[in-house]
Amino acid sequence: MELRRRIEAAVAPLLLLLLIGSGRCPVRSEAFKSDVPVHVEKVLVNDTAQIKCDVSSNLPNDRILLVVWYKDNVPIYSYDTRVKNSELPSHWRDGAILEDRANFKPLRDKSRAELVISPVLKKDAGVFRCRVDFLLSPTKNSNVNLEIVVPPEVPKIDDSNGFELTAHAGPYEEGGILELTCVVTGGIPTPKITWSSNGKTLPSTMMEYSHESALSSKLVVRNLSRDHQHNVYSCQASNFYKRNVTTNVTIELRLRPLVVEIVNGSTPLSSDRRYTIQCQSSGSRPPAKITWWKDGEQLTTTNQTTTDDGNSTIATLSFTPKRDDHGKSLTCRATNELVKRGTKEASAKLNVFYLPTLKLELGTNMNPEDIEEGDDVYFECKVNANPSAYKVVWKHNDQVVQHNSKTGVIMSSTALALQTVNRHQAGNYTCIASNVEGDGESNTVDLKVMYKPICQPDQKKIYGVARNEAAEILCHVDAYPPPESFKWSFNNTAETIDMPQSGYRVHTEQASSLTYTPVKEQDYGTIMCWADNAVGQQREPCVFHLIAAGKPEMPYNCSLVNQTSDSLEVDCAEGFDGGQRQWFVMEIYDQQTHMLLANVSSRIPIFTVGGLDSGRLLKIVIYATNMRGRSEPILMHAYTLKPAEKQTGPHAEFELSPILSIGIFIGILTVIICIIIAVAAAVKLRTSQQAKTHHTGHTGGVLGKRPGNLPIKEKISLPLSQSEDMYDEKNPDVVPTNEGFRAGMERPSFRQWLGLCRARFFH
Ligand SMILES: *[C@@H]1O[C@H](CO)[C@@H](O)[C@H](O)[C@H]1NC(C)=O
Ligand SMILES: *[C@@H]1O[C@H](CO)[C@@H](O)[C@H](O)[C@H]1NC(C)=O
Ligand SMILES: *[C@@H]1O[C@H](CO)[C@@H](O)[C@H](O)[C@H]1NC(C)=O
Ligand SMILES: *[C@@H]1O[C@H](CO)[C@@H](O)[C@H](O)[C@H]1NC(C)=O
Ligand SMILES: *[C@@H]1O[C@H](CO)[C@@H](O)[C@H](O)[C@H]1NC(C)=O
Ligand SMILES: *[C@@H]1O[C@H](CO)[C@@H](O)[C@H](O)[C@H]1NC(C)=O
Ligand SMILES: *[C@@H]1O[C@H](CO)[C@@H](O)[C@H](O)[C@H]1NC(C)=O
Ligand SMILES: *[C@@H]1O[C@H](CO)[C@@H](O)[C@H](O)[C@H]1NC(C)=O
Ligand SMILES: *[C@@H]1O[C@H](CO)[C@@H](O)[C@H](O)[C@H]1NC(C)=O
Ligand SMILES: *[C@@H]1O[C@H](CO)[C@@H](O)[C@H](O)[C@H]1NC(C)=O
Ligand SMILES: *[C@@H]1O[C@H](CO)[C@@H](O)[C@H](O)[C@H]1NC(C)=O
Repeated sequence: MELRRRIEAAVAPLLLLLLIGSGRCPVRSEAFKSDVPVHVEKVLVNDTAQIKCDVSSNLPNDRILLVVWYKDNVPIYSYDTRVKNSELPSHWRDGAILEDRANFKPLRDKSRAELVISPVLKKDAGVFRCRVDFLLSPTKNSNVNLEIVVPPEVPKIDDSNGFELTAHAGPYEEGGILELTCVVTGGIPTPKITWSSNGKTLPSTMMEYSHESALSSKLVVRNLSRDHQHNVYSCQASNFYKRNVTTNVTIELRLRPLVVEIVNGSTPLSSDRRYTIQCQSSGSRPPAKITWWKDGEQLTTTNQTTTDDGNSTIATLSFTPKRDDHGKSLTCRATNELVKRGTKEASAKLNVFYLPTLKLELGTNMNPEDIEEGDDVYFECKVNANPSAYKVVWKHNDQVVQHNSKTGVIMSSTALALQTVNRHQAGNYTCIASNVEGDGESNTVDLKVMYKPICQPDQKKIYGVARNEAAEILCHVDAYPPPESFKWSFNNTAETIDMPQSGYRVHTEQASSLTYTPVKEQDYGTIMCWADNAVGQQREPCVFHLIAAGKPEMPYNCSLVNQTSDSLEVDCAEGFDGGQRQWFVMEIYDQQTHMLLANVSSRIPIFTVGGLDSGRLLKIVIYATNMRGRSEPILMHAYTLKPAEKQTGPHAEFELSPILSIGIFIGILTVIICIIIAVAAAVKLRTSQQAKTHHTGHTGGVLGKRPGNLPIKEKISLPLSQSEDMYDEKNPDVVPTNEGFRAGMERPSFRQWLGLCRARFFH
């Protein structure tokens, strides 16, 4: 009732005004409306629409009486100021259309006013007209076409199989095709769909879509490359500048390994040492699997790690190169099995250092079993080394061979030539090569040089044999190859007789032994022996002298080499053994008591006797003996030192103190006197002895005393063998003379004299 009354109250004066106004203002409202330009106003649904209305007047003192809003020419809202003074202007709205969402507010400056609809609904779209009546000015009309924008739903992105993607797409293969469809539902007016990436709009194709109210746009990216990795593709649906809806997907790619590199593959390696070699691969997604290969053969001792960003993989190979790995190729292969042609590899040629290996051979056209003295011999040393050997040395029986063109030893780094080889050059040859890894030695080649037998030096040449005694004569030769046969013959001044084969036999491979029994004097003489082998017969025979066996000669050149308070050492040279084995005897007597103190025998004329009393004067008798008898004796005088004398070393002379000086001076004086007395005594003794002992070669006693009545002469069987002159050449000193003895040995030395004098003086 109230509403109706209000409308009537509003409309009644309006109609009245129209009637009044029609006389002054002949323009009809319909025509007036169509002349007014229509403004378009876009508003997002549920937003606030502000529909403008021109309420300005040019006349002073004018004012608005009434504003009426029409929607699609139907009045929907009025604003009336013709009310009693105290009252506010009255508003009327069509509740069916606007509910209570609309409000008209004339602005303060009164030039413009707005019909505010909030929230604006989809049904509110249409042409709005406001008609303004003024007190003085003519009526004004404003037309606004209100368009209501409904934004689309958030786009959905589907992959080529129609599955919806959330945030991520892929993984895609490198080189493959990316196909994305963006589906947009709803939206008034129809939205526009755009694809973009990195701020750039991408070309795309609008597609039919089964759902009526949906639109779709397909994006195709061909030939995907690693540049596309992690690209963000955005699908934007937009139908109003104020509101866009976007969905993003990030694409993931499978990538081939980009870089493969052996970090330190070309450094030289020493054979049989353990190394770690690294290979790095990057750019593969997912990370590559790395395998190692050596000349096509897979190696297993590997280990691989991937960096945190997943971009790089490092594989470590633990590897012990062998010498025959040198020159082989080491390959590191990175594989991404998920990608076509997803393998990339890097190779390095192994540089393995190793010890030289050598092969030593005789020259190719030489027969090692047929080399004779005088032939030329040639060795070849084949060296296999990395790095190359810088030095090759040749060895013969472990002695380094020197180049010597004079003796025909000619060397090069890989060959050794021996011109006119001799038997001393036979033996073991090796070559030795050196490089940074060390020295390598070749096999041994035993050079065999064939030569005719020759007589071995240093064998027993003189045999002393009694009549009717069988002697065994040995003939040793050197020969290569070993001797095949021996020949013996006998020569005395009268004739030469070959020995019958039954008389001799093989002793060793290189020796023959002859059993020979001289019966009469003519059976003594020279025996010769020849051997022969594959090369020929011995040129110079081995010569043996057969003599009648006799007593040995006496040892000579005896000297007292050591003398202490209780021991003595006497060394002699041995004389001719009389043709038979000899041994030596030394007897020591006390000079005063003539008691035998020691009796030693020895195979060699070197005697050491201990356990003697100190400070004793001694007589020494030395002789050689064999089956045939004894040699003449050698007589020596000696003494053992007083115990104190052991301490009289050279250092004592330097430890003089001033207090002792006078004592020493007196001592020296005494010594000088001693010497004078001793010399005088010795001269006297010598003169008397020369007459008595001339024929024995004995030269005086220690203290001028005759060494007792030792029956030396009786002990020695004097007669020499008749054949003595046959071997005289070996030892001219058969008959001892005074010159055969060294005076120093017979007589005490000056020091010994001094020792004795001092001993006497102080005790
Ligand atoms: C694919 O891309 C690569 C480099 O991005 C280019 O070299 C190649 O020619 C392209 N192939 C095709 C078929 O476009
Ligand atoms: C919506 O997108 C259009 C172009 O597509 C742009 O001009 C506009 O600024 C965007 N609006 C918003 C609010 O992002
Ligand atoms: C989509 O990506 C663009 C550019 O990277 C970004 O500006 C935008 O905020 C993203 N939108 C969504 C919904 O993640
Ligand atoms: C290669 O380099 C790695 C790391 O630098 C090192 O451990 C390895 O010993 C090197 N190998 C060779 C053979 O030099
Ligand atoms: C992956 O490795 C490649 C080759 O080293 C390099 O070019 C690229 O920048 C790397 N990518 C990333 C994400 O580190
Ligand atoms: C691989 O390397 C890691 C770390 O360097 C080590 O712990 C592991 O024992 C290694 N594996 C083999 C099989 O060498
Ligand atoms: C040569 O070598 C062999 C075997 O190594 C050895 O028995 C022989 O004694 C050597 N000869 C010489 C002269 O060193
Ligand atoms: C045998 O001895 C005599 C004289 O000693 C000598 O002239 C002769 O050459 C010798 N014969 C041989 C075969 O040596
Ligand atoms: C005697 O011996 C001395 C030294 O011991 C030595 O020099 C000398 O040559 C020897 N005389 C003989 C003939 O052996
Ligand atoms: C002398 O003989 C003694 C006792 O036998 C011995 O200790 C000493 O080494 C010998 N001296 C020499 C130089 O031979
Ligand atoms: C010393 O010994 C030898 C045998 O070794 C003997 O013939 C000799 O008669 C002995 N001398 C004395 C004096 O007993």
